[in-house]
Amino acid sequence: MSVTVRVPAKVNVQLAVGAARPDGFHDLANVFLAVGLYDEVTVTAADELRVTCTGPDADQVPLDRTNLAARAALALAERYGRTADVHLHIAKDIPVAGGMAGGSADGAGALLACDALWGTGASREELLDICAELGSDVPFSLVGGAALGTGRGERLTELEVGGDLHWVFAMAARGLSTPAVFREFDRLAEGREIPEPVASRELLDALAKGDVDALAATLSNDLQPAALSLFPELADTLAAGRAAGALATLVSGSGPTTAFLARDAEGAEEVAGALRASGTCRTVRTAAGPVPGATVV
Ligand code: C5P
Repeated sequence: MSVTVRVPAKVNVQLAVGAARPDGFHDLANVFLAVGLYDEVTVTAADELRVTCTGPDADQVPLDRTNLAARAALALAERYGRTADVHLHIAKDIPVAGGMAGGSADGAGALLACDALWGTGASREELLDICAELGSDVPFSLVGGAALGTGRGERLTELEVGGDLHWVFAMAARGLSTPAVFREFDRLAEGREIPEPVASRELLDALAKGDVDALAATLSNDLQPAALSLFPELADTLAAGRAAGALATLVSGSGPTTAFLARDAEGAEEVAGALRASGTCRTVRTAAGPVPGATVV
């Protein structure tokens, strides 16, 4: 018997970052949007825990117990006093180390799939608690849609979105480590007073109305200077997207994937074509959001 769960990637339409906390994490005001680029996690009963992965970036995915999917299965098994005797297969389409929550998606997917396979009957709250233990972005991968994440990003308030938003994503030739980008944020912030992170009222209104022009004017990512500092070539990709007519450009989360907002699906295809021709990135994909979170298929 096996269960397959499909889980979307995310883009952060706002990522406000506060000062480093004593525990090393940063308080955030993190406005997540789930977009239609997916990983699929299939769990099958097996003699022992095993992880396999296929997809364009599969060679970069760890197959040991550091994989978030394996950690999710182990966490759920421990809570229910059983062994995590499953084969987890990840069909990966979300870029690895790309700032689109690909690892978090696999964690949320494995958790939901194991829960269904084992019939644990865990409540949504219990699953969200386990997600929060696994990582700051994992609860959002379970919930999907759009949400404001506070704390280190794990405390979610769901948000309404007034229409489909069309995006282009440019994947870079190499990944960026999230902790390294936060460390660079801290280095760049040295000697400066960092304000409390707050969600932008204008941005939340623009999302609620589905007003793409107002949203384009308010997109922001406090990690962008840090990502650009570690990966200066991303500036060329952002410039190519701007020149191609994107309404707004930004680094997705900790990067290095860059995100481009378009007026509609047609506009997104135009920007995607120009980015492909620009030679400033590895691959280019289009995707719309919001889409639902982790779902059994
Ligand atoms: O929570 P997660 O394991 O995904 O975080 C990865 C790393 O990103 C953390 O170890 C930390 O260095 C950084 N981080 C942070 N503040 C957050 C979320 C993540 O500093 N709110």
